[in-house]
Amino acid sequence: MEEIKLEIGEYEEGDLREIVAIERDSFLTPWSENIFLNEMTCPISRMLVGRSYHLQKRLVAAYLVYWSVEDEIHIHNIAVRPELRRNGIATRMLEEALRRSRREDARRVTLEVRRSNLPAQRMYEKFGFSVKGVRPGYYSDTHEDALIMCADLQMIPLAADATVVKSGGGDV
Ligand SMILES: CC(C)(COP(=O)(O)OP(=O)(O)OC[C@H]1O[C@@H](n2cnc3c(N)ncnc32)[C@H](O)[C@@H]1OP(=O)(O)O)[C@@H](O)C(=O)NCCC(=O)NCCS
Repeated sequence: MEEIKLEIGEYEEGDLREIVAIERDSFLTPWSENIFLNEMTCPISRMLVGRSYHLQKRLVAAYLVYWSVEDEIHIHNIAVRPELRRNGIATRMLEEALRRSRREDARRVTLEVRRSNLPAQRMYEKFGFSVKGVRPGYYSDTHEDALIMCADLQMIPLAADATVVKSGGGDV
């Protein structure tokens, strides 16, 4: 049994290869390397990278991209390395993004999620997000609807620390 320690910080040179691999394992129409590079130069875009030191290996465990516009943030992309899912990592990543945004006086958080993506919807609901609208056929690959989910940032309870996510097995 070993703790999965998660260190959340800024993007570092050298992370991109792992990020793109996680992205490809996570989405039907993954972002290309160029899309990530564009995000990094976009003034409203913020990117967090979660690194784990599981079994003495340093891995990119997760990443989260959000946009910050006036008093609102928009969760643009979040994914966790498949073999590390269900360990609370996305929860910690989202908490960290929300904590940082709250410090910058953001009040509202929005996102779009595929109607079929129930794991992500369950996670957002645990944070207090609710569905406020639908964008019919929003995703060009499958023409699936997007659910628009929103939450009041001030109402979300946030834990103080974001490093150790779980004691448990795993073979990464
Ligand atoms: C969605 C995703 C980011 C969740 O990451 P994660 O680290 O596994 O999430 P957490 O362990 O923090 O789980 C938080 C909650 O989400 C829900 N959840 C997560 N995965 C779930 C699953 N497979 N089935 C049902 N509920 C799930 C649960 O309510 C969970 O709480 P619990 O473990 O106490 O039951 C991850 O599955 C992923 O990378 N998916 C592919 C990319 C994606 O869909 N991104 C979201 C785009 S909107």
